[in-house]
Amino acid sequence: MEDLRLVPMAARHLDDLAALERICFAEPWTRAGLAAELSSKTAVFLVAELSGETAGYAGMHCVCGECYVDNVAVFPRFRRQGVGRALTRGLIERAGKQNAEFFTLEVRPSNTAAVALYESLGLRPAGRRKNFYRNPQEDALILTLFFHPPGGKEEKGEATVRDGSEILPV
Ligand SMILES: CC(C)(COP(=O)(O)OP(=O)(O)OC[C@H]1O[C@@H](n2cnc3c(N)ncnc32)[C@H](O)[C@@H]1OP(=O)(O)O)[C@@H](O)C(=O)NCCC(=O)NCCS
Repeated sequence: MEDLRLVPMAARHLDDLAALERICFAEPWTRAGLAAELSSKTAVFLVAELSGETAGYAGMHCVCGECYVDNVAVFPRFRRQGVGRALTRGLIERAGKQNAEFFTLEVRPSNTAAVALYESLGLRPAGRRKNFYRNPQEDALILTLFFHPPGGKEEKGEATVRDGSEILPV
């Protein structure tokens, strides 16, 4: 898409992104929650602008080489045009530039669009979190992209997500 631009999230995007959250998620991030990320040193939040309009956004936090995706969302009228892929790829590129060990996220297994998007970019199943989601209740599938060269921990099948929550076999 010629006129697609990825830009850092800014205050001018917050109203649109809070509305997008409400459209997409049962437990949406609020405008205040999004605004707090503007001053976070560990946050990388990108907005896709298409012909000057806010088309979608994606955000992650990177700490000690571990990048955890918070959100990826695209307004319905802009879907299936490569916006979600551009945003996710943008985060992966920025994680790579930070020399991250891995890039990981949770997704509902029933969200076949999102799972297909992430798998098309090289993320692979790394575990499940039991009853992670509410409204409706569902396990989370953990999908992870490791930046390590061959022979790293991921080749031995070790789950290296270390946030204290229970990780079940896929
Ligand atoms: C998931 C989401 C971000 C995808 O955004 P998008 O801009 O439509 O995605 P893209 O156009 O970049 O599509 C990339 C790939 O994702 C997959 N995909 C996207 N939408 C799909 C759909 N409705 N059905 C099946 N596969 C789909 C395809 O593999 C697609 O590649 P292709 O177009 O070459 O077939 C968007 O549907 C969305 O905002 N959903 C609601 C919020 C959400 O569920 N976020 C993810 C939370 S983990």
